[in-house]
Amino acid sequence: MPKPSKEWSSKKRAIYGASDVRWQIAVLPGDGVGPEVTDSAVTVLLAVADRFDHVADLTYADIGWTAYEGHGAPLPDATLSACQAADAVLLGAVGDPRGDTVTPELRPEAALLGLRQEMGCFANLRPVRLVPALADASPLRRDRVDGTDLVIVRELAGGLYYGKPSGRIDGGDAALDTMKYSRAEVVRIAKVAFETARSRRKKVLSIDKANVLHSSRLWREVVEGVAADYPDVECTHMLVDRAAMELVLDPSRIDVMLTANLFGDILSDEAAAVVGSIGLLASASIGSGGGIFEPVHGSAPDIAGTGTANPLAMILSGALLLRHVYEQEEEAAAIEAAVERVLGSGLRTADLARDGEASVGTEAMGAAVAAAVTEEGSTDA
Ligand code: NAD
Ligand code: IPM
Ligand code: MN
Repeated sequence: MPKPSKEWSSKKRAIYGASDVRWQIAVLPGDGVGPEVTDSAVTVLLAVADRFDHVADLTYADIGWTAYEGHGAPLPDATLSACQAADAVLLGAVGDPRGDTVTPELRPEAALLGLRQEMGCFANLRPVRLVPALADASPLRRDRVDGTDLVIVRELAGGLYYGKPSGRIDGGDAALDTMKYSRAEVVRIAKVAFETARSRRKKVLSIDKANVLHSSRLWREVVEGVAADYPDVECTHMLVDRAAMELVLDPSRIDVMLTANLFGDILSDEAAAVVGSIGLLASASIGSGGGIFEPVHGSAPDIAGTGTANPLAMILSGALLLRHVYEQEEEAAAIEAAVERVLGSGLRTADLARDGEASVGTEAMGAAVAAAVTEEGSTDA
């Protein structure tokens, strides 16, 4: 099977295999380490396609700074069309230091916000689980992190990110953003959290700043109302500042953490550090369409081009894609098991290696996970 290479990162299409289920995926490598970790994730997906006899129909398109440089827009129409035509989107990362020099609408981040909105992605699911082999990679003591297994359900289409008015005012001497939530927006994300909790330990921890913010008081009131429809799920509320503390004091007590857009963004990077590295955290942005599957981390300009980024967040985002879009639980679990096996064998990227421990690069980690997927398949047979 040929290995994808970087020159594909420009609206090229490749079809692998010749069998029953066809995955139609738009692949957006993006900026910085995005293309590096995307290559690894695609290598792993192709190993899964091979093992389970599926067809991978991948359409590559540009987004972010790469797209701005190449096509004059961070989210070109052709990219949006490719995403809308696909079953789902697999996205690396956007972001470039040069983004600070252009108007806000042309920033790489604007492309991501626009894509989420266009694709109807209002819920961002971010699973945070301690892989036992990585307990020592956490900056926290093992007894604090043991058993950590939570999901952040982050509202993704509203709040401070999209509220109007926003922008510079007073001739540029002041600026404002608006944190606005409607009842309907809170109901739909709360339902996602309660449904998620039902398939887990049946606990929702809703995060807000209801002691100060009007939008948070509405949030709490609406979540209470939705909770009444889920008597089997325990619902508690916590102020966001305390939640930031509880996340490091006792993360294993948390099951589903329901948050507004900005609070979830901040708490998810903190949660990533708790379980060892932001290079591990995958996410599913879902709603009315197929969804966007993207690591929690960004373009990591400080390590871009060095071939050292951890591809596991991106690889695990591929697993979430197979689970959510195609309901291919076995295939998704095969990726997750391969990741655990590779980490269990001691392989580490630089972000996970402890002092004195050897580390491997992005490509080697991706190849090891792909090989583990294939090997597990040959022992099944
Ligand atoms: P970042 O997540 O890119 O990096 C934070 C730190 O984590 C850096 O030290 C980086 O080297 C490290 N890191 C990130 N991913 C890693 C990986 N896979 N393996 C090993 N180490 C990794 O966050 P930042 O530095 O605040 O932001 C950089 C750019 O990324 C900004 O332009 C920002 O807007 C963008 N960003 C994009 C997304 C996205 O595309 N979804 C998410 C977050 C940030
Ligand atoms: C994330 C990122 C994005 C966000 C940025 C790049 C717009 O930080 O996905 O966590 O804030 O949603
Ligand atoms: Mn973020």
